[in-house]
Amino acid sequence: MTQDTSGPGSGAVGRDRQLSAARELLRDARGVVILTGAGVSAESGLRTFRDPDGHWKRHRPEDLATPEAFERDPCLVWSWYDARRRAAAAVDPNPAHLAIAEFAAGRDDVILITQNVDSLHTRAAQIVAKSRRERTRDEANVSPRKEQAGNGNQKILELHGNIFRTRCTRCADRRERHDPIDASSRGTLPRCTACGGLLRPDVVWFGEPLGEAIERAFVCAAQVGVCLVVGTSAMVQPAASVALMTVRAGGEVVEVNPARTPLTEATAVSLRETAVGVVPELLR
Ligand code: OAD
Repeated sequence: MTQDTSGPGSGAVGRDRQLSAARELLRDARGVVILTGAGVSAESGLRTFRDPDGHWKRHRPEDLATPEAFERDPCLVWSWYDARRRAAAAVDPNPAHLAIAEFAAGRDDVILITQNVDSLHTRAAQIVAKSRRERTRDEANVSPRKEQAGNGNQKILELHGNIFRTRCTRCADRRERHDPIDASSRGTLPRCTACGGLLRPDVVWFGEPLGEAIERAFVCAAQVGVCLVVGTSAMVQPAASVALMTVRAGGEVVEVNPARTPLTEATAVSLRETAVGVVPELLR
């Protein structure tokens, strides 16, 4: 049965009990998958998709996030993605991103699976890896080779791609790219340096397959004891099914979200709070 921090009788005592229950589940789990969505980046200042001020309340996904939209009007699609790239580059990982990165760096049985394309988890992992290197260096005289170990990046599965990468529509060459895109005309759009093809954001659009990443996500989710779900409406498949894989394999789900979601019923503990409000405390 779900324990819920917003239910009747959920005062400070209820919250403490639920937080302890969630902590215990995470501590004892034989592996943890953390699944995140746009809500984890909301307190960094980035819009979610389906909240009242979300992207999909202002735009239609079929105009901006489908292969057909890109074919029809690549300038419109690129200008929207470039605005999102600029917004993401202008903000910082928040305490929830950092707590997740610290948690993942401290255990070797944690996989972070995100639907976000904003790179904030990767940036948090880099910040945490740097501060752990500095701490290690301060605490002991370790060799430079040892210092470089433990960059949390390898453990992040980005299900929907990354807006700071481009992919060639002709030869599929992928490149990291951070500089602004000039989407004022078709002639100024970015082109592949290898074959001259038009570049697109390396993200997954509606109607496109998620490929190998989702297969890996499902396998991981079925092997762990707990799936911690933070800041997703769980409305988009197949990503929303990751937590159900854990449940089906006998594991538990802990959810952090100020609102109920279709997953809430299947959770062991539902912390009805914001990511920054509870994740650092939960993972400390
Ligand atoms: P949504 O916008 O659908 O959901 C955001 C969730 O975050 C909601 O359930 C909110 O209640 C919750 N939320 C809002 N603020 C929060 C906070 N401060 N802390 C914690 N949670 C908070 O975003 P996603 O679930 O990520 O895909 O959307 C999934 C996919 O739909 C996206 O990856 C994107 C979109 O279309 C593509 O573009 C392919």
